[in-house]
Amino acid sequence: MEDQAERLREIMKRKREGTVTAKNTVVKPNVKSGDKPRIITVTSGKGGVGKTNLSVNMALAFARIGKKVIVMDADLGLANVNVMLNMIPKYNLYHVIKKQKTIREILVETEYGISIVAGASGFSQIANLGEEDRKDFIRELDSLSNADIIIIDTSAGVSSNVLDFIAAADDAVIITTPEPTAITDAYGIIKIIATEYDSLDMGLKLVVNRARGAAEAKGVADRMIKIAGQFLNLNVDYLGFIYDDSAVPHAVLRQKPFMVEDPKCKASICVQHIVERMDRNKPGESRGFGAMLRRFFGRSQETT
Ligand SMILES: Nc1ncnc2c1ncn2[C@@H]1O[C@H](COP(=O)(O)OP(=O)(O)O)[C@@H](O)[C@H]1O
Ligand SMILES: [Mg+2]
Repeated sequence: MEDQAERLREIMKRKREGTVTAKNTVVKPNVKSGDKPRIITVTSGKGGVGKTNLSVNMALAFARIGKKVIVMDADLGLANVNVMLNMIPKYNLYHVIKKQKTIREILVETEYGISIVAGASGFSQIANLGEEDRKDFIRELDSLSNADIIIIDTSAGVSSNVLDFIAAADDAVIITTPEPTAITDAYGIIKIIATEYDSLDMGLKLVVNRARGAAEAKGVADRMIKIAGQFLNLNVDYLGFIYDDSAVPHAVLRQKPFMVEDPKCKASICVQHIVERMDRNKPGESRGFGAMLRRFFGRSQETT
């Protein structure tokens, strides 16, 4: 396992040297010091494990405790936050990336007290943006600084985009199910994060979705946390689990968040617990929005 991690580190290092160039421009974040939305990135190794459901329902749970929340659909291949909410926004991230609109202009309120930035589904070219475009895009997040919390629903797996969003995050939430394939892929993404950010204090958090119970989920989490600590020297926090619950696909079919459709279902209670835990463990002063921009731009230029 150690060998494998070592090899991966090598690959990522070479990849980074190849793609992230030295021709750096100094970017000055245009953020006032009081403005610090908490950026939460939701990601996974394997697809279909529950990222979008967690992102949207977590947003609702935060809204219920009085937070101003934005969900950004950054799954640039398979965007579906708006589908889950039965909305067809006129503009989406496609227009932002094409520089036709700003993020603020495409932000839409939902009937659930949260706002969304719709993704650009089916436009695969933007799934792999060039570095400059990615920088511009992350810079655009600057304009959302009046939110308390920005939840970024990413695509599964590792692309430069996903890594940028993880770099931008105060909390990087990794979601897996108890399935061996999902666990392996989740571990894979944790490895890559460890490779990319060994000096950074990423708030890496684990959620086990579709568990049959607390014991099963805890077993999965304990194994992953132990391996990450042993082989990658990486601290991963267990945030909690979500029951495998038929209320979830039911709500998805009705294009409503399960927190709305069935606020007392097992999955809703679990998400509430996860959000309560996150709210108790706020990122430190060094984190937050300004820090996010520094981390992001620091990633490709080593200086801020
Ligand atoms: N806790 C759960 N219980 C039952 N089914 C779930 C649960 N979470 C997700 N699902 C199912 O998995 C599907 C994929 O979830 P989704 O949030 O779209 O995953 P992702 O965004 O990771 O691709 C959902 O449509 C739903 O049917
Ligand atoms: Mg999704």
